[in-house]
Amino acid sequence: MNLVSVQDLIPGMRVGVDIYNLHNQLVLPKDTVLTKEIIDKLADYSIRYVRISEEKKQPATGINRSYSQRLKSSRSFQEFKHEFISNVYVIKDEFNDVVTKNMPINVDKLLEKTATVFSKADGTNVFDMLHNMREYDDSTYVHSLNVSLICGVLAKWLNFSKEDTDTLVLAGMLHDIGKLSIPDSIIKKPGKLSKEEYAIIKTHTTKGYDILSTQTLPDAVKYAALMHHERCDGTGYPHRLKYEKIDRFARLVAIADVYDAMTSARVYRGPMSPFSVVETFEKEGLQKYDPEYILVFLEHIVNTYLNNRVLLSDGRKGEVVLINKTALSKPLIQLEDGFLDLAKHKDITIEKII
Ligand SMILES: [Fe+2]
Ligand SMILES: [Fe+2]
Repeated sequence: MNLVSVQDLIPGMRVGVDIYNLHNQLVLPKDTVLTKEIIDKLADYSIRYVRISEEKKQPATGINRSYSQRLKSSRSFQEFKHEFISNVYVIKDEFNDVVTKNMPINVDKLLEKTATVFSKADGTNVFDMLHNMREYDDSTYVHSLNVSLICGVLAKWLNFSKEDTDTLVLAGMLHDIGKLSIPDSIIKKPGKLSKEEYAIIKTHTTKGYDILSTQTLPDAVKYAALMHHERCDGTGYPHRLKYEKIDRFARLVAIADVYDAMTSARVYRGPMSPFSVVETFEKEGLQKYDPEYILVFLEHIVNTYLNNRVLLSDGRKGEVVLINKTALSKPLIQLEDGFLDLAKHKDITIEKII
């Protein structure tokens, strides 16, 4: 059993012993599977360390291999990974040339690179590929490639023309380029940001727009850098714009951007299951996002996980058999001994795809 500090806990870990607070009241019983909400609460109870059961390692061969293990050992994933990683280096060089030497952006090269990575995922879900790339670097370059790939999928789902698809993919690729002008000490700071630091981070939107303003690019790409943190209800930054004032492509990049940030392994927590992502979008308020685009996006996301095996927050395993249109994050699950409608058991969530 490992003693893990609360900051290092990751959803999905299993508690090894009963946990009591200072007044000797039981806070968490043994064997609870941690969720983000539970981890956040532990700090409120002044609990600093938790004993975690060590996961039993599954054999790496045979039918017991998890979904992610199977995917990772597939040829298409290996090719995707290879292409992905080599492209991150290309993006890194390209971005640095643009930001430090003010060189013209090689749009064709960037689009071609994204298209090659995309083609490697053909036939398999790009999201599955991305979820299994999570252990790799969490840099701005990786995030940029992720967001451009997600934008490519969105464009497909929305039946965009070739021209609009290219614009959206490029907008996703370049949306955070302003982060290269923010000191690494702030971008990569592991703890909570101070008010001042957060204010500096927010300037990556205007800085990005400034960097792109002199480049030959569609205006929508420049606006996406400026407006991807604006929210349709006017709660975003830098200008608190509302729906109609936010460029259409920026509204799409916002969705891809938030999705990638939520599902990637950040300093505080492990990656989230796509169903918790949908739930988080729902909780955060769908009114923040373009109403048409967010529904298309979330519906497709959950549909891609139909028929997958999942681990539930209560430790049970089952298969997603039916998506609830009115509660996308709460599908019907087939368990070994019958069905479980998550829409009627709101306390149980899907922890991960297995
Ligand atoms: Fe951003
Ligand atoms: Fe971003």
